[in-house]
Amino acid sequence: MKKIIIAIDGYSSTGKSTIAKRLAKALDYVYVDTGAMYRAVTLFALKEGFFGEKVDDASSLIEHLPNIQLKFVRDAKLGTCDMYLNDENVEKDIRTLTVARKVSQVAAIKEVREKLVHLQQQMGIEKGIVMDGRDIGTVVFPDAELKIFMTASPETRATRRYKELLDRGDKVTYEEVLKNIEKRDLIDSTRSVSPLRRANDAIEFDNSDMGLEEQFERIFSFAQRVI
Ligand code: C5P
Repeated sequence: MKKIIIAIDGYSSTGKSTIAKRLAKALDYVYVDTGAMYRAVTLFALKEGFFGEKVDDASSLIEHLPNIQLKFVRDAKLGTCDMYLNDENVEKDIRTLTVARKVSQVAAIKEVREKLVHLQQQMGIEKGIVMDGRDIGTVVFPDAELKIFMTASPETRATRRYKELLDRGDKVTYEEVLKNIEKRDLIDSTRSVSPLRRANDAIEFDNSDMGLEEQFERIFSFAQRVI
């Protein structure tokens, strides 16, 4: 069986990571959540006071980029893959609405993208990888053998993310979550560096009215056709 690169891009909270993780497990591939990397850089910027309610100091963040070390730590037994920022497990901290509110601004910084895209390309050198994000099929791996572009209505996506945050114990309202999703989509798709868009050769996949099982079956069959 040949090893390929599977790129899953799309709007916020379309369920990319759930499908990508499952696909990687079924194929015995590595899964990489690139959103977690942008979130970790954002957490760093918030902690250092470079980005916050009042300050947006991109130049300080750019200057400190070499001090940011990111790695994924996989636990095969637990089946988890946690994001580490400078040797600290930040998996939980990067999923908050506070980080979500700033991440698209941080992800629009050219130097941040250059650093993360380089790291992502290194991770895919040996193929056998499922990577999800916004620019995987267009910028990180334009030659990926399989590209999926996930979409779903903003309301469907907000409902999913709202439930996720509530389950995690975050005190948020549905309206806040919907607003955040719409704002991130707007920034992500209109930024000048690698805007979110469907690669010409990506399969558009609207999962608004689809359960997890059906999504997985369909995407798995796309992969089988290529492998
Ligand atoms: O996938 P997730 O929603 O966790 O991504 C968080 C944010 O990171 C996105 O809204 C986007 O601004 C940014 N991102 C990006 N490019 C990627 C992955 C994520 O710009 N490849």
